[in-house]
Amino acid sequence: MSPENTSVAVQEALEIKHEGRSVRLPVVRGTEKETALDIGQLRSATGLITLDPGYANTGSCKSAITFIDGEKGILRYRGYPIEELAEKSSYLEVAWLLIHGELPTAAQSREFTAQVTRHTMLHENFRRFFSTLPKDAHPMPVCAAAIGTLATFYQEPESKEHIQETIVRLIAKMPTLAAYSYKHSLGQPFVYPRNDLGYTSNFLHMMFSNPCEEYEVDPVVAKAVDLLMILHADHEQNCSTSTVRLVGSSMANLFASISAGISALWGPLHGGANQKVIEMLEQIDAEGGDVNRFVARAKDQKSGARLMGFGHRVYKNYDPRAAILKRACNDVTRRVGGSSRLLEIAMRLEEVALKDEYFVSRKLYPNVDFYSGVIYKAIGIPVNMFTVMFAMGRLSGWIAQWLEMRDDPTFRIGRPRQVYTGPALRHYAPAAARG
Ligand SMILES: CC(C)(COP(=O)(O)OP(=O)(O)OC[C@H]1O[C@@H](n2cnc3c(N)ncnc32)[C@H](O)[C@@H]1OP(=O)(O)O)[C@@H](O)C(=O)NCCC(=O)NCCS
Repeated sequence: MSPENTSVAVQEALEIKHEGRSVRLPVVRGTEKETALDIGQLRSATGLITLDPGYANTGSCKSAITFIDGEKGILRYRGYPIEELAEKSSYLEVAWLLIHGELPTAAQSREFTAQVTRHTMLHENFRRFFSTLPKDAHPMPVCAAAIGTLATFYQEPESKEHIQETIVRLIAKMPTLAAYSYKHSLGQPFVYPRNDLGYTSNFLHMMFSNPCEEYEVDPVVAKAVDLLMILHADHEQNCSTSTVRLVGSSMANLFASISAGISALWGPLHGGANQKVIEMLEQIDAEGGDVNRFVARAKDQKSGARLMGFGHRVYKNYDPRAAILKRACNDVTRRVGGSSRLLEIAMRLEEVALKDEYFVSRKLYPNVDFYSGVIYKAIGIPVNMFTVMFAMGRLSGWIAQWLEMRDDPTFRIGRPRQVYTGPALRHYAPAAARG
């Protein structure tokens, strides 16, 4: 579905006048009535550019993939509420929905699952790729590098038919790469994928089995991983997705663009926050469990501490994904019988923060990372793999966004401008003459 199909330019326009020149800028509305000023002619007509650090007011594209209403706490993929998809769908079905625009038919679903299942193995040379890396390598840069490296194994041009094969390869091999990056950090042998297992069960098998002992996949745990991946699958034009689009806009291939997205996701203000949440909860626990003291520290902006997993650039309400995960947290911790101490601390922290004027007035609510780490921890995913789990889910959204950008008739290389604030013209002086 082209983004052009779902937005309408209305007759409204805004006139901008600057130093004797003027332009009428059209107002554009999306399907959900969000309104934008199309500034495409602004610079050529008036000489002005816009300045918007952090892009908080900038729409970089039209998109028909994901809708978020941050004020109301709404998230939909291709029109479907996240709550319905979380309850009724599966990750591979959601991946298809994001990439193709519609839910798959039963036959499409079977075929897609079969294709993904058949492409999970890595080329044997990949073993040597892992063996060159230090043992304590963080799995996020390992995954970013491994996905980039796939481009050297599959060098076909990105034609219409090859791109579908690339997409299948990426979705199929990402869990294998993720599990191998973990096995490498343990010094354990890599475990081959099994075609008789479902997508997330296979991932858990590759993570936790070893040649001496088969790991029995608990369907509740596999379901929880599937749910987490659905919730992470897309989130419109965030930092990593914009990175994927920007890199892809240079006509860099899909592997390179996704690799860049993984690197962007690694940062603690983006995907790395779930790891930081667990570290924060463990720190609170180690200091005696006093959540009030931590909240006070997070409010003191001089302390540099933030309540990790709280606040969001877009959501100024409860993140709907956090609400789903809060319920799932209870089910999973009960099922796996692990300690629920971190969950208890998280819930107390949330209760205190949501009653605090500082967080209320700034509309800071729990985001998806606040509870996801607690589930990962309960099911035995090591902390340094949390962001990799996020990347595994987000992969399908990145692919969908990259394809949409390439299919957009208004496609151009991404190239923002700047307001230069450095020295005005000056001339080179030899070193001896410099004061
Ligand atoms: C997500 C995040 C980066 C959004 O940033 P942003 O939209 O640029 O918002 P700002 O950093 O401008 O924050 C707005 C105000 O709330 C405060 N604030 C934001 N998040 C906060 C947090 N988690 N703890 C304490 N204060 C916070 C800021 O200090 C700022 O206060 P001020 O207006 O008095 O200066 C930010 O909320 C954050 O750092 N959260 C913690 C990390 C996290 O959970 N990231 C995962 C995102 S999915």
